[in-house]
Amino acid sequence: MPGVSDRLPVFPWDRLEPYRASAAAHPGGLVDLSVGTPVDPVPEVIREALTAAADSPGYPTVWGTPELRDALAGWAGRRLGARGVEHTNVLPVVGSKELVAWLPTQLGLGPGDRVAFPRLAYPTYEAGARLARAEPVVYDEPTEVAPEGLRILWLNSPSNPTGRVLSKEELRTAVAWAREHGVLVVSDECYLELGWEADPVSVLHPDVCGGSFDGVVAVHSLSKRSNLAGYRAAFIAGDAAVLGELLKIRKHGGMMVPAPVQAATVAALADDEHVAEQRARYRARRTALRGALETAGFRIEHSEASLYLWSTRDEPCWDTVADLAKRGILVAPGDFYGPAGERFVRVALTASDERVAAAVERLRG
Ligand SMILES: Cc1ncc(COP(=O)(O)O)c(C=O)c1O
Repeated sequence: MPGVSDRLPVFPWDRLEPYRASAAAHPGGLVDLSVGTPVDPVPEVIREALTAAADSPGYPTVWGTPELRDALAGWAGRRLGARGVEHTNVLPVVGSKELVAWLPTQLGLGPGDRVAFPRLAYPTYEAGARLARAEPVVYDEPTEVAPEGLRILWLNSPSNPTGRVLSKEELRTAVAWAREHGVLVVSDECYLELGWEADPVSVLHPDVCGGSFDGVVAVHSLSKRSNLAGYRAAFIAGDAAVLGELLKIRKHGGMMVPAPVQAATVAALADDEHVAEQRARYRARRTALRGALETAGFRIEHSEASLYLWSTRDEPCWDTVADLAKRGILVAPGDFYGPAGERFVRVALTASDERVAAAVERLRG
């Protein structure tokens, strides 16, 4: 019997393991700039909220506590500029990767349906389409996708891996086009708080969606903004009809955010200070790494936001990976994100200041 996993590509990170081993043999130790996993501490205010809710013997709800829904709706209004966000417009999810991977299945997509995403993209958009037996479609411009059978249009701004930010105008055009063709826009905005040379805008902003959430859903995660990747804290916001349907399915599926994580999320969204502190850390690392990469002959494209420097030396990405691994630096090959990335590597800002300083020294040396 063919396994469901046969529908999926080989898990790409396994291919990086030999390079990890050679980079780890560097006398100064490994500098891992490959996976964008946060390394800085979970802010105290969030840890306190988690531990205060440690005595949670009962089942949590899929929709979350009223306090959590207030926090999600309030944050979407305050930070994204979304107007009129009600509890029906928010839904917690168990980390956004879970949602990205299972959304097509949960919305009932199947053979004959199509799911579109950027040509260079986070691989889970494709995995989600394949899990549902829908057809994955890549685009350069969303409005150039043939609308027949298209059910979900993924946007991702700021982008992983390129750090590119879509302008208000580009977002507005994509939303208008999708509405015209009855296609659901799902906008992955998990790097929205990490703009450096651009100010990322949400699809829920009235200038983009016209003040109506019809046909639009935004995906948000606390993994990066609050160093909470280990907590699995994320949520979606937007079209109440879509979220209501997902809520029903996810109740049957037991897809609950643990109660202590719900409480931690409330605390995290109420506090802007730790977000500013974390941004400052990433900004300093970005400046240092960017300068060192440029000195070492790299060209950085886009990267105006997010946790990555999309870098090229105009050579095959695996040559760059191998060369940097010799210097004890591990980066992600661009072809993990699609064949169009085959001459780029993705350099993550998620290493300690000490490790970033080591990488800078090795790149300059
Ligand atoms: C574009 C994008 N979406 C979603 C995720 C998933 O984040 P999480 O599951 O931690 O919320 C990631 C993680 O790197 C990402 O890069």
